[in-house]
Amino acid sequence: MNTKIPLSKKNLPQHIAIIMDGNGRWAKKRGLLRAMGHETGTKSANEAVNACLDLGIPYLTLYAFSTENWKRPKLEVDTLMRLLVKSLKREMPQFIKAGIRLNIIGLMTDLPKKVQQELQEVINKTQTHTNLVLTLALSYGAREEFIKTVREISDKVKNDLISPHSITEDVIKEHLYTFDMPDVDLLIRTSGEQRISNFLLWQIAYAELYFTDVLWPDFKAEHLNQAILNYQQRERRFGKTSEQLR
Ligand code: IPE
Ligand code: IPE
Ligand code: MG
Repeated sequence: MNTKIPLSKKNLPQHIAIIMDGNGRWAKKRGLLRAMGHETGTKSANEAVNACLDLGIPYLTLYAFSTENWKRPKLEVDTLMRLLVKSLKREMPQFIKAGIRLNIIGLMTDLPKKVQQELQEVINKTQTHTNLVLTLALSYGAREEFIKTVREISDKVKNDLISPHSITEDVIKEHLYTFDMPDVDLLIRTSGEQRISNFLLWQIAYAELYFTDVLWPDFKAEHLNQAILNYQQRERRFGKTSEQLR
């Protein structure tokens, strides 16, 4: 990849989603507890938020906890929940100052009450902000999101509010957690794993995928820039031919 080409402000992704992976391995490499990896990872999240603000990227979605992550040892789950509250408290002034709106996708009601309260407070205080929509995927799974969508639409059909024939992509989109967000343009996964792990399946249908070996706690603004630069060198054809795009 040619890192000498500067970022073009014209062709920036409008929605970046990140699978923040590798906290555990980062800690293990240093002989530390996994919790330390998660703690350091919150700084990388903060750095990614600031980098998006600087570039004027309006949507950033971070995969923070999957529906499958509940299967981890209780101690680790508790640590992650505690860290979430701690970093929300730490970042709140920055959210206000920088005009960030906090948004949550996932089964928020599965989270501990204390976490729900903290999240709701930040959501309420930032709901009119427009500089950056920061979405945290918490207890999120794309399959769970599909189930929710199918249930809600089935209810509408049952109550004669909609006919099966008028179910379109737009109708489905209205029922997703991400109903008010554009599709993902650039999906980044750190730590060398090349899989989606039940993240935003509908929304990444035409996303550009970018995998890096960098572990999440080591991921800095320069790595995000590199990912965006790589994105800008691709041709997004959306099914058309190159010639049609010119
Ligand atoms: C990502 O790091 C954080 C969460 C999934 C919550 P991991 O904890 O998955 O780190 P590795 O994959 O074990 O290194
Ligand atoms: C995906 O990472 C979930 C988050 C980053 C929150 P995992 O580490 O849980 O994914 P797998 O188990 O390696 O697929
Ligand atoms: Mg992992």
